[in-house]
Amino acid sequence: MLTLGPFIKHLVNEHEVVGKQLDALEFEIENLSKEGVVERIRAQLNHLRYIVEDVHHKNEEELLFPELHSRVNLKEGGPECARFMTLKQFSDPAQIIFKQGKKRGHDAEVLLKRNKSELLESPLIIPMEEHVAGQIAIHLAEFEIANLLKHNSSSEALASLRKIITTYISLMRHHIQKENECLFVLADQHIPANIQEKMLEKVNLCSRGQL
Ligand SMILES: [Fe+2]
Ligand SMILES: [Fe+2]
Repeated sequence: MLTLGPFIKHLVNEHEVVGKQLDALEFEIENLSKEGVVERIRAQLNHLRYIVEDVHHKNEEELLFPELHSRVNLKEGGPECARFMTLKQFSDPAQIIFKQGKKRGHDAEVLLKRNKSELLESPLIIPMEEHVAGQIAIHLAEFEIANLLKHNSSSEALASLRKIITTYISLMRHHIQKENECLFVLADQHIPANIQEKMLEKVNLCSRGQL
């Protein structure tokens, strides 16, 4: 990736942090039946929920996506947009999670509606759907963990936990790759560095509790 503006660079750095957490989670999942691993996975998921949902996705949904939407008519298409839309066909992990989530009463539509309606009508619905899929996957994993800790671990329950976590890891890695290689490249081309400075300042003020 070429030199990036400050806000996009900040988001890429957040992706790196998330990527390391996903690697750590993947390491634990290899040893799932060992003592103490399920508790450690629960702690890792809590941490991931914070850095992904409370911090990173908030920066994207509240700052990046509205700014990008106000500058680029993604509905018009063009080479970048066409490429972005094509990537949807690879988002299988999200569909697997939605299907599983539905069985446990997680309504993706309701969760998606926390976003501005104009964003939901644009191609930006694709990354937002994947954010929701990640949120549902963590809920599903927590449900399996609660069961495992309450009752004796059965190989079936361990397999269910392993399945949902590996699906989550695959979803997140693919999502990060798409954003780094496509959405962020597009956003960096259209959001000038001085505007990105202001966006980053908002993030910094927010993290210092001044917003
Ligand atoms: Fe995202
Ligand atoms: Fe992201």
